[in-house]
Amino acid sequence: MNDFIFRMPTKVMFGVGALKKVPGLCKEQGYSRIFVVTGSTSTRQSPQLQELLTELAALSIATQVFSDVEADPSIETVDRGAAALGEFGAEAVIAYGGGSPMDAAKSMSLVCANGGSIADYMRAKKTFVKRGVPLICVPTTAGTGSEVTASAVTTDKATKEKIGIGHDFQMPAYAVIDPLVQVSMPPAVTAATGMDALTHAIESFVALKANPISDGMALTAIRLIAENLRQACANGENLEARSNMALASLIAGVSFTNAGLGAVHGIAHPVGAQYGISHGSANGIILPYVMEYCLMANYGKFREIAIAMGEDVAGLSARDAAVYAVAAVEELKQDLGIAATLAEVGVPEEALEPIVKDAVTFRLLPNSPRRLNADDLRIIVSRALGIS
Ligand SMILES: [Fe+2]
Repeated sequence: MNDFIFRMPTKVMFGVGALKKVPGLCKEQGYSRIFVVTGSTSTRQSPQLQELLTELAALSIATQVFSDVEADPSIETVDRGAAALGEFGAEAVIAYGGGSPMDAAKSMSLVCANGGSIADYMRAKKTFVKRGVPLICVPTTAGTGSEVTASAVTTDKATKEKIGIGHDFQMPAYAVIDPLVQVSMPPAVTAATGMDALTHAIESFVALKANPISDGMALTAIRLIAENLRQACANGENLEARSNMALASLIAGVSFTNAGLGAVHGIAHPVGAQYGISHGSANGIILPYVMEYCLMANYGKFREIAIAMGEDVAGLSARDAAVYAVAAVEELKQDLGIAATLAEVGVPEEALEPIVKDAVTFRLLPNSPRRLNADDLRIIVSRALGIS
């Protein structure tokens, strides 16, 4: 067994209607000025966010809303938000949205406290030495787990790179998980973000840095996703399915914050940055190809994934049982309408080498259960592209 340190400093407030507790929490903490970071699309207009702002105003808490966060937030957006946060003089930040607003809010808070541009920290020219103002995350999707993780990803639009920073200072102070704010999520977004959560759970479960606590959490998340993601896509108002997916996303987030990720994310980042494929879709497409290639590194763990996904593997050898884990993920993909290959979402054959070149530098690639070099990645990406 590996030696390990397990971190989970975020206070989680989970439940139907949990959003209503946020104004009281802010008052109790003595915040009088709050910077609210949200997406530039539907979340900005959501009635729940409007209600939250009204209730904060009723408690004499001033707010400033920054709603310019695009999907895959850029260096420019983060730097602009950090400057606005500093000018406003906020005592806390509320991030309301999916992974992009939550990641951007984490980066804004730390850049504001530490100075410079997020690009300096992405390129390791600077490190965070001061904590930012406390962050309260309200996820409106069930997938990223950003509400409890130590990581945030920013996109360099000029070089077409998505670069993640992992730092304990990025862990939110509070995660407020309210399935009611997730019911309006369209089926395609539910499916893609759910596949992101499944990827977090599976990658962290088979990771070299996995530990007994993260293992239990990852398996629970895998089971919850296998049992609830289809239902959440089929009927977004199914609160039981929404609650279980929100829980799975959070649990998988804690798992990967402690056990790390692997090659699926390493490949999904250049696919997203170079071809604009959403993070969840890219992960969902790539996941079974990486699993299949890594199976022989740990048949026992892949067998456990198959069981968590509801497969009957009784009487099978560990190797044969492990294969069912890949089949179960492929079936889930099919049911959810996730593309089978990257070619189906418009990634051309010429993308092979640029994707491999970027993926081989992924900081968590050495955490993969099977050692992967550029040649291995070339085989995986070729299969995911549908060219071999
Ligand atoms: Fe992810």
